[in-house]
Amino acid sequence: MSARIRIALSKGRILDETLPLLQAAGIELLEQTAGSRKLIFPTSHPQVDIIIIRATDVPTFVEHGAADIGVAGKDVLMEHGARGVYEPLDLNISRCKLMVAAVQGAPEPAGRLRVATKFVNLTRQYYAEKGEQVEVIKLYGSMELAPLVGLADKIVDIVDTGNTLRANGLEPTELIATISSRLIVNKAAMKMKHALIQGLIDQLAVAVENNRQPQNPD
Ligand code: ATP
Ligand code: PRP
Repeated sequence: MSARIRIALSKGRILDETLPLLQAAGIELLEQTAGSRKLIFPTSHPQVDIIIIRATDVPTFVEHGAADIGVAGKDVLMEHGARGVYEPLDLNISRCKLMVAAVQGAPEPAGRLRVATKFVNLTRQYYAEKGEQVEVIKLYGSMELAPLVGLADKIVDIVDTGNTLRANGLEPTELIATISSRLIVNKAAMKMKHALIQGLIDQLAVAVENNRQPQNPD
């Protein structure tokens, strides 16, 4: 029996930016995901299926072998800890920055800093490495609101254009990490299905390189 592989992607920018890379590797969705309630999709490659899950769940599915391969932001991988998965390829998509932000011009608060974020683990680690005692407040979204309503002094969040910060009177104060999405692979699958998975990694690496150097028309 030939090996099958399951690839975990999340709806939105990761799906949108990964599909062209997969297409270059000969893998295309056979049906539309937009508007569909389905979660598992066949592809044009007879040995490959795609599952669509929440971005933060991708490392969990891959770690447990429920998906052989996944695509996840480095932010999500740092937060999860990414135990038990290989990270063989930077796909150079969904690029952004993980930053600390605060109200524009706000003075450093006296006493223990309160930081709101959905990235509680990496935020604790970041401040621990700086030797600062902080209170980390877990939120699931709309972090930018926290300093405006007195819930926190600072936030740790994704910044791309900076529009969301500016629209809320916030400014970035510290860069924690530059972020892009990564291909992750279950360790057992990498051994058991090596030819299929390594072949896909190699093709994706070429597609990423071609994206990096847009073809000159002449
Ligand atoms: P969930 O839907 O589970 O809450 P999410 O909202 O973080 O997850 P996306 O917004 O699709 O999911 O983000 C997926 C990844 O894309 C993030 O983990 C991050 O690496 C990157 N990302 C997030 N926001 C931006 C942005 N504004 N610009 C570029 N990349 C981003
Ligand atoms: C992300 C992030 C910021 C915003 C930053 O949210 O949480 O709010 O992008 O991007 P900007 O610097 O270009 O404004 P997203 O748009 O993914 O919405 P979400 O909160 O639903 O994830």
